[in-house]
Amino acid sequence: MPHPVLVVDYGAQYAQLIARRVRDAHVYSEIVPSTMPVSQMLEKKPAAVILSGGPASVHSDDTALPDPELFNAGVPVLGICYGFQAMAQVLGARVEPTGKREFGGTPLTVSEPGALFEGLPREQSVWMSHTDCVMEPPEGFTATASTAGAPVAAFEDRARRFAGVQFHPEVAHTPHGQAVLQHFLYEVAQLEPTWTTTNVVEEQVAAIRAQVGDSRVLCALSGGVDSSVAAALVQRAIGDQLTCVFVDHGLLRAGEAEQVEKDYVAATGVKLVVVDAKDQFLAALAGQTDPETKRKIIGREFIRVFEETARQLDADTPIEYLVQGTLYPDVVESGGGVGAANIKSHHNVGGLPEDLQFTLVEPLRTLFKDEVRDIGSQLGLPDAMVWRHPFPGPGLGIRIIGEVTAERLEIVRAADAIARAELTAAGLDRAVWQFPVVLLADVRSVGVAGDGRTYGYPVVLRPVSSEDAMTADWSRLPDELLARISTRITNEVQDVNRVTLDITSKPPGTIEWE
Ligand code: XMP
Repeated sequence: MPHPVLVVDYGAQYAQLIARRVRDAHVYSEIVPSTMPVSQMLEKKPAAVILSGGPASVHSDDTALPDPELFNAGVPVLGICYGFQAMAQVLGARVEPTGKREFGGTPLTVSEPGALFEGLPREQSVWMSHTDCVMEPPEGFTATASTAGAPVAAFEDRARRFAGVQFHPEVAHTPHGQAVLQHFLYEVAQLEPTWTTTNVVEEQVAAIRAQVGDSRVLCALSGGVDSSVAAALVQRAIGDQLTCVFVDHGLLRAGEAEQVEKDYVAATGVKLVVVDAKDQFLAALAGQTDPETKRKIIGREFIRVFEETARQLDADTPIEYLVQGTLYPDVVESGGGVGAANIKSHHNVGGLPEDLQFTLVEPLRTLFKDEVRDIGSQLGLPDAMVWRHPFPGPGLGIRIIGEVTAERLEIVRAADAIARAELTAAGLDRAVWQFPVVLLADVRSVGVAGDGRTYGYPVVLRPVSSEDAMTADWSRLPDELLARISTRITNEVQDVNRVTLDITSKPPGTIEWE
């Protein structure tokens, strides 16, 4: 990996966004906690350091201010929001509580373009969130902008390659924010925009070869974006040393098994073992209605099938490595990527047990979802896979409320296929994050069809918009699209006589019903 721009996380949700925006500018970035000693940051040979925003005030006693040594290391530094004030304070400027809060879109006046505002409008709107203010720039700095509530809203010292802004350049509500960030990276820090995901493919191919040598490698393929791209990358690196195992638990949506068995193999040439375990899962789920019990059963059966398959494959030469599609947000959320990598449990079917005794290969550990999609396209994976919506490991098993049976799976699969096809036809796949279709198998209601009374199931449409699945809002799909989906489902899917729409955000609802 190239020398990173380190984004020091002062505890707000902005650090990930800043890291993303830096990468959008084709400069490699990594997030580090604010508790990391400067000496450790410098060991990473950072190309620059960005101090992020955060909820702290430079005036509270327990505030983590940056170590002054950071500013003697010859490394370019950008301070953002709290990071701007903390930088000013450490460098000896006056930072004062004004008692007046600036929050949201705020007019900014540029007094001198300097490097940060070169070529940008003198008056522009920026996104603010602060109560303290920098009253004057530190020695050696020029103040370049102000707002009504912030006498110094930006400053820079070109000679030492330092700059700072009170506002948030990383959010979409600051229209020229990306330009300001790029000016810091290219003009102040003098970095070249050379980082692309193409380099990542080459680097990862080399890294995987170096890691595994001529050992055998296993991957549990789910058909989801992350495991598909991770496996394709490993396959590119080591070819037939990789074996993928695809457990068909019968809880997949229409066309998904075929997509993995045919399209994926055609695109990658991967060696794939398909295990048809549909009957085993159905038998294990018979009579079960409690959601947590269903989840546990699905997880347990998955591990049984996977372990048994691994044992069979192991017969001649032992398999030492296991591919995981861990992404950067998983790494950051589980503590910043320090320490031993654990097999992630939530986003696998139940999680593979740790006593499986494999060493992990995680080629996507430094990447964000959209970068992973980009790499998937570069590796020639079909669009339908690369742009697939997230789908839970336990699959349709948790989208049937009540007992899972073969008939009910048929019903929810057919309804889901219609909803997905219509969403695609309307060109809205990328506008929604996910679109679960849920069968309320314990509910029946009266309807009418032709001359007769029906007594059928309701299905729930649950289209949501989200950035990361942590929070979500219900998608405002066009009425005509919803009407088409409803008409088709009630006409074409046996036993469904009502289609309802879930208009709950998350929180308080979750995305899946279960
Ligand atoms: P909820 O329903 O908690 O879901 O709002 C958040 C996101 O996680 C997905 N999800 C899962 N993904 N295994 C997975 O791989 C699971 O067991 C699982 N449960 C929920 C869900 O689809 C949504 O994207």
